[in-house]
Amino acid sequence: MSYNLLKGKKGIIFGALDEKSIAWKVAMRAKEEGAEFVLTNAPIAMRMGEINKLAEACNAQIIPADATSVEDLENLFSKAQEILGGKLDFVLHSIGMSPNIRKGKSYGDLNYEWFQKTLDISALSFHKVMHVAEKQNAMNEWGSIVALSYIAAQRVFPDYTDMSHAKALLESIARNYGHRFGKMSKVRVNTISQSPTKTTAGTGVGGFDAFYDYADKMSPLGNASAESCADYCITLFSDLTRMVTMQNLMHDGGFSYMGISEEVVEMLNKQ
Ligand SMILES: NC(=O)c1ccc[n+]([C@@H]2O[C@H](COP(=O)([O-])OP(=O)(O)OC[C@H]3O[C@@H](n4cnc5c(N)ncnc54)[C@H](O)[C@@H]3O)[C@@H](O)[C@H]2O)c1
Repeated sequence: MSYNLLKGKKGIIFGALDEKSIAWKVAMRAKEEGAEFVLTNAPIAMRMGEINKLAEACNAQIIPADATSVEDLENLFSKAQEILGGKLDFVLHSIGMSPNIRKGKSYGDLNYEWFQKTLDISALSFHKVMHVAEKQNAMNEWGSIVALSYIAAQRVFPDYTDMSHAKALLESIARNYGHRFGKMSKVRVNTISQSPTKTTAGTGVGGFDAFYDYADKMSPLGNASAESCADYCITLFSDLTRMVTMQNLMHDGGFSYMGISEEVVEMLNKQ
């Protein structure tokens, strides 16, 4: 159902890899709500070609950019403004990758060069995105910038290894840049802390199925789906949330405030 919440708004959406991606669902919902936007992903992800289908469905252009490269981001922001014919109202940062997780390294055996890559791709890129947006004066007043996080920033999930530090840094960047962008041009910056979701990045984490089921059993509303995360992103891009900034917003069906649930007690009693 469409409410025209983003009518006339322009933006950039990072991170749609395939139709399971959270960014993919956000793009579809943003289109439905009347937004115009540019899609972007790392050049290497383009090779899969799936993003072309999304671009067609959303009538959007694709501009490749490695989010760790300031040069690529400069090109992206200037081309996006050219294509869309003006400044931007929203940006979605939906990017995460850990070479250590990909290669199955445990927390006690991290490769430090890869650790730095994890931080660069999954967190510093968010700073770089906002730095370029600031330098190009690319955001309209009351614009909204959102990145996706996970509760491993606050709590210990052993298999999430170096990504937990990346998410803590990501949330800290959102607060600090949120202060700066708010003062400068009334732009708001937030992170959404999403439930475990069955995507390429999500299912790459060791033990994913177990903590997906655990979170589902712990949350009174169950795990939040990628579609409902997209709905939440749309509200944050809309004018209805103008005074929300510098927040890490839990979108997790209630998981973060639970101690234990009846379902988990029942499961343990059965053992
Ligand atoms: N899936 C989950 O369980 C879950 C839970 C909470 C938060 N998140 C976060 O949601 C976001 C989106 O992930 P997803 O679950 O949709 O998975 P996904 O694998 O579909 O998306 C991750 C994206 O990051 C992109 N990316 C990787 N390196 C990049 C680079 N150098 N430059 C530009 N883009 C790059 C990938 O190409 C991909 O499109 C991530 O930040 C992830 O950590 C996911």
